[in-house]
Amino acid sequence: MQDILDDIVATIGKSDDRGNVADYIPELAGVDPNQFGICVATTDGQVFSTGDSEQLFSIQSISKVFSLTVALGHLGDGVWKWVGREPSGDPFNSIVQLEHEHGKPRNPFINAGAIAIADAILMKRLPKEALAEILSFVRFIADDESICFDSKVAQSELDTGERNRALAHFMKAYGIVKQPVDYVLGTYFHHCAIAMNCRQLAQSGLFLAGDGRNPVTGVRVISSNRARRINSLMLMCGHYDGSGEFAFRVGLPGKSGVGGGILAVAPGKASIAVWSPGLDEVGNSKLGTAALERLVQKTGWSVFA
Ligand code: DON
Repeated sequence: MQDILDDIVATIGKSDDRGNVADYIPELAGVDPNQFGICVATTDGQVFSTGDSEQLFSIQSISKVFSLTVALGHLGDGVWKWVGREPSGDPFNSIVQLEHEHGKPRNPFINAGAIAIADAILMKRLPKEALAEILSFVRFIADDESICFDSKVAQSELDTGERNRALAHFMKAYGIVKQPVDYVLGTYFHHCAIAMNCRQLAQSGLFLAGDGRNPVTGVRVISSNRARRINSLMLMCGHYDGSGEFAFRVGLPGKSGVGGGILAVAPGKASIAVWSPGLDEVGNSKLGTAALERLVQKTGWSVFA
């Protein structure tokens, strides 16, 4: 495994065709696109990493997997009153389907869906309580108390996130969002602004590779049924309008973020985190996807194998 990862960093990680760093969040626009890290945490307790795998980055939409898990913990199947579970086929920040579908987002991973999930978590709670819960959940699954929000990134989105504000108000008009929009967006922007490195992120996905149980510590996080459902949503919706392409090329449940990270889950085998800040046309890490494609070719870890 170490040889495979070293080869990926030496080849794909050095490519000139790196995509473009997200610049609609000003705080992310200055990230050096030449960084590349990868970490594989296996279900038998081994951890392999290389490249810039200790460098912190903004996990952005990858956090939507964790907020969904927290919401499911509170509401169980009640979550599906807020969001659906169908791929959208539209960009992550799209508003067009919302009007046709009466303000209910297609799935929990597009921006509208994750904003609705933040609303669901906020029921009877203040934003600081909801955020404390999401952060402590992430620290628990990663087994790392040092994980924090990057408040500059959160503030940068609060200052510029008019599109998300539009989505939230639109959903509030339909009664999907119920709490004050400022509370909902404050919660959403902050969980997107969690900073992690590849090692911490790979560690945090182990419960999804272990059928809901951390396979290394033996601690059950969620039921196996729930883990399978989250993995299926990651496969169908985790890369927005690039989800089909990601399934075709990589064949693993995965969730991307505009910070350039991807968390991929090989059920029963490993949790994989890769980070390269340059994005493709639909907002997914360009080299991160190529790296996962190579890793799956070498290991045969596709869920379709
Ligand atoms: O709301 C946003 O636009 C960001 N906080 C998250 C978007 C994102 O990561 C999309 N992923 N590829």
